[in-house]
Amino acid sequence: MLKDRSILLGITGSVAAYKAIELIKGLRQEGASIKVIMTEASKRFITPLSIELASGNSVYNDMFDSPLSHVSLSADADLFVVAPATANIIGKYANGIADDLLSTALLAFKGTIIMAPAMNWRMYENPVFQKNLQYLVSLGIKTVGPERGSLACGEEGIGRMADIEKIMEAVRTAFSKQDLAGENILVTAGPTREYIDPIRYISNRSSGKMGYAIAKIAKRRGADVTLISGPVSIKPPEGIEVINIETAGEMHAAVMDNVSMSSIFIMAAAVADFMPSETKGSKIDKKERLSLNLVKTVDILEEAGRFKNKPFIVGFAAETGQRLDRARRKLVDKDIDMIVFNDVSKAGSGFDVDTNEVVIIDRKVDRRLPLMYKDDVAMVLFDRIKELKDNGR
Ligand code: PMT
Repeated sequence: MLKDRSILLGITGSVAAYKAIELIKGLRQEGASIKVIMTEASKRFITPLSIELASGNSVYNDMFDSPLSHVSLSADADLFVVAPATANIIGKYANGIADDLLSTALLAFKGTIIMAPAMNWRMYENPVFQKNLQYLVSLGIKTVGPERGSLACGEEGIGRMADIEKIMEAVRTAFSKQDLAGENILVTAGPTREYIDPIRYISNRSSGKMGYAIAKIAKRRGADVTLISGPVSIKPPEGIEVINIETAGEMHAAVMDNVSMSSIFIMAAAVADFMPSETKGSKIDKKERLSLNLVKTVDILEEAGRFKNKPFIVGFAAETGQRLDRARRKLVDKDIDMIVFNDVSKAGSGFDVDTNEVVIIDRKVDRRLPLMYKDDVAMVLFDRIKELKDNGR
C-alpha cells in the first residue's frame, strides 16, 4: 500500500522516541521512503545515527544546514507523521510557532498530518494542552492515541504513545480510498462458546482473524464499523465499536440489536451450530461416561435474511473440500446477497491462519481468488460489494 509513498517523520523529545525505529522499519517494509526531522530534545532519547541507519537517509535537524530545507522537505512529502508528538510540538503548531526545523516544516506542509501524542497524564489532561489538541483536530489533523498504561515516570494514566501498528494503520488509512464512507458495516468474528458447565464449553478453532481483517479494511476505507466478537486474542483496530460476546445466544442478541442500523452485514464468525440442551450450574463430576444432549442454535444469518428492510448481507461457508454447491445452497436458503466459500481443510486456508483461499459467490458470478492474506481477501470482497451495491444491490 505504501509503495513509492514519501513520508516525512518528525521525532520529538519523549521517552517513546526509541519506538520511532520500529515505525520507520514498518513503513519501509511496506514500501514507503522515509525522511526524518529530529528535534534537539529527541536526540537526548535516541541517536540520529540509529535513525539514519533505520531510515536509510540522512537525518535533518538544523534549519540553517540548508536554509530552504523546511520548504523542500515539506514539498517532497506525501504525508507528515509526528511520532512521538510532545505537548511542546502540538502547542507550537496550534499557535503557529516556527522556531526550529520541525515546527517550520509543519507550517510549510500542505497535506495530511498524523500526530501520535506522548506525555505524562497531567500534561495530557491539562486544559491548555487539550485546547491546542482539539484545535488541531478541528483543522483536520489526524491523531492516534495516546493510550492508558504505565508511564515513564512510573505513574499509571493516559499518555503512552499509541502502538506502532495503530500508527501504521493510520498511515495506511491516509493513503486509502474512502469509498465506504457513509456505510454502516456490522461484522461478526471469532468463535462462540456453548457452556456444558461453568468451566467447560464446546467451541471451534476460529481465531477471529478473517472477521477482524474485514472490520479493519472497512474502517480503513472510511466506513463506520461495529464488530461483534467472540473470544479471541487479537486487538481490535482503533476507531471500531466492539461488542464482546461469548455464546451463540449472545451473538444472536447483539446482531438483532444492531443489524437494522447497518447497510452491510458480514457474518464471518464461526457460530456453534449446536449447544448443550442444558448448562449445569456447577462443575460436572468426573465419571466413566458422559452423554451430552445437543440442540441446534438459532441460525442468525437465516433470521437476518428474512428481514424486510435488510442490509446487503454476506455469509461465509466453511466447507471441507471443494463443495461449492453446498455454499451456493446456503446463499439461496438464507436469502442473502453473497457467500464467501472457504475450504477449511486446505493448508493456509480458513481457521487460525493469516491467509485464506476463497470463492466469492453472489447471485451473478463466482469469483475464485488465489491464496491471499486475509486483509487482501477483505479488500477484494469490498470491491465486489461496492460494485454490486453501486449497480442497485
Ligand atoms: O476466524 P479465523 O480463524 O480467521 O477463521 C475464519 C473462518 C474459517 C471462521 C471464516 O472464514 C468462516 O468461514 N466463517 C464462517 C464459519 C461457519 O460457521 O460456516 P458455516 O458454513 O457453518 O455457516 C454458514 C454461515 O452461517 C456463516 O456465515 C455463519 O456465521 C452463519 N451461522 C452459522 C451458524 C449459526 N447458528 N448462525 C449463523 O449465522
